[in-house]
Amino acid sequence: MEKKFIIAGNWKMNMTVSDSLNFFKEIEEKLSKIDNKSGLDKVEIIIFPPAVSLYSLASLNSSIKLGAQNMYFEEKGAFTGEISAEMVKESAEYILAGHSERRWIFKESDEEIFRKLKRALDTGLTPILCVGETLEDRESQKTFDRIGKQLSEGLRGIEQKMLDNIYIAYEPVWAIGTGKTATPEIAEEVQSFIARQMTSITGSIYRKPILYGGSVKPSNCKDLLEMENINGLLIGGSSLKTDTFFDIIATSLELI
Ligand code: PGA
Repeated sequence: MEKKFIIAGNWKMNMTVSDSLNFFKEIEEKLSKIDNKSGLDKVEIIIFPPAVSLYSLASLNSSIKLGAQNMYFEEKGAFTGEISAEMVKESAEYILAGHSERRWIFKESDEEIFRKLKRALDTGLTPILCVGETLEDRESQKTFDRIGKQLSEGLRGIEQKMLDNIYIAYEPVWAIGTGKTATPEIAEEVQSFIARQMTSITGSIYRKPILYGGSVKPSNCKDLLEMENINGLLIGGSSLKTDTFFDIIATSLELI
């Protein structure tokens, strides 16, 4: 099968609007110097900036796609501090759902995640559903139970034809921001499980990209991307500097 990759940067609560604009200027400059222009068609680059930067970044008309890190599941109304899918849609195509920081710090439940996915899909956004086990789950051999449950609860009740518009990211909680990456073999084992689960949930062979996230850096991205079921990366820390983020893009191009 022809290889295609998604290289996504999740900036979390980092980067002001002017930092974000500078980043885009710098990365566009680096991308314009790439020889393998046709390879770039097969690498989709997405940035998830803080929501306040989305509008300004969208006005740049960059080839880099945009996504929001979060949104609320209600359509509109008296929900102080929240943003809606409709608001995101004006500037972005993607939305993260179920990121472990939302699950663990903000106590988001599978039910809320499901409602966000549903609203995002109904609004025409493409959600990336993040799943992953904690260290405790892994040590007590509950990795597959946890991830199976996150997938089935998060996707339960989503119309069959809509399921195809969702991407999945595997992000082991113990690997996020800790410097501990899952080995490519560990990630592949879980990602092939995700592919099988998604095939059974959707009722047809699941061919959508499954991303890996958790301490991805230029030095480990190649081994990860070489795995059969890793078709993209969701990158936190290493997406904040154009040098490291660009190195990862350049490595993905070598594998196309
Ligand atoms: P990290 O974050 O690359 O800094 O570990 C990944 C993520 O949370 O998406």
